Amino acid sequence: MINGSPRNGNTLIALEEAKRVFEANEIDTTIINVGAKPIRGCIACGKCYKTGRCVMNDIVNEVLPLLEECDALIVASPVYYASANGTLISFLDRLFYANHADLSMKVASSIVVARRGGASSTFDELNKYFTISGMPIASSYYWNSVHGKEIGEAHLDLEGIETVINLANNMIFLMKAISDAKAKYGLPKRIKGAKTNFIR
Ligand SMILES: Cc1cc2nc3c(=O)[nH]c(=O)nc-3n(C[C@H](O)[C@H](O)[C@H](O)COP(=O)(O)O)c2cc1C
Repeated sequence: MINGSPRNGNTLIALEEAKRVFEANEIDTTIINVGAKPIRGCIACGKCYKTGRCVMNDIVNEVLPLLEECDALIVASPVYYASANGTLISFLDRLFYANHADLSMKVASSIVVARRGGASSTFDELNKYFTISGMPIASSYYWNSVHGKEIGEAHLDLEGIETVINLANNMIFLMKAISDAKAKYGLPKRIKGAKTNFIR
C-alpha cells in the first residue's frame, strides 16, 4: 500500500482500515509513506528502458522490487486541488515507467481522501496506472473515497470506512480467485511490440 499523504492523517487511517482486514485474513501488508519525501518528477531521460531502475536513486528504486513481489497494490492519496498529491504522482510516474516486471493480474485499487470535492477525478487519475499495466481493479460498493479534513476526521466518515473495508474484502476474494485461475489456466496470452506513435 502506498500512502501519498505527507501527514500521518486521514489517508493513513483509511489504509490502516484495509490493512486490518488483510491481516485478519493472514495477508501480509506493508504501508509505504511517500508523501513527505523529496521525490522529484520524471526527467524523461529514458535510462530506465535499459536498466529497469530510475537514475534518481531514491524510494522509487526501493519500491520497484516490492512491486514485483506483491500480489496486490493499493495506492491512496489525499485530494489536492481535485487531483492526487503531486509528490505521489512524481513517485508513480517514475515507478511505473521504470518498472520492467510483469504486473498483469496483480489486483489493484486506489483510495482517495478529500475534505469535500475532487474525489472522483482523483480516483480516475490513480486508476490509470493500473489500467495501462494489465492490473485488474477491485471495486467496492461506492467509489473509494473517504472524507475528512483535520487528522482523525476520517474515522467519522462511517460510509467511507465501510467502503474501504468492503474494498479490502473484495480484493482478497479477487486475489484468491486469480491465484486459483493462474494455477489452472496460466496468465492470459499477450501480444506485444507494436509502438504506433501517431507519426505519419
Ligand atoms: C494543498 C491542498 C489542497 C487540497 N485540495 C482539496 C480539494 O481539492 N478538495 C478537497 O476536498 N480537499 C482538499 N484538501 C483537503 C485534504 O484533501 C484533506 O485535508 C485530507 O483529509 C488530507 O488527507 P491526509 O490527512 O491524509 O493528509 C486539500 C489540502 C491541501 C493541503
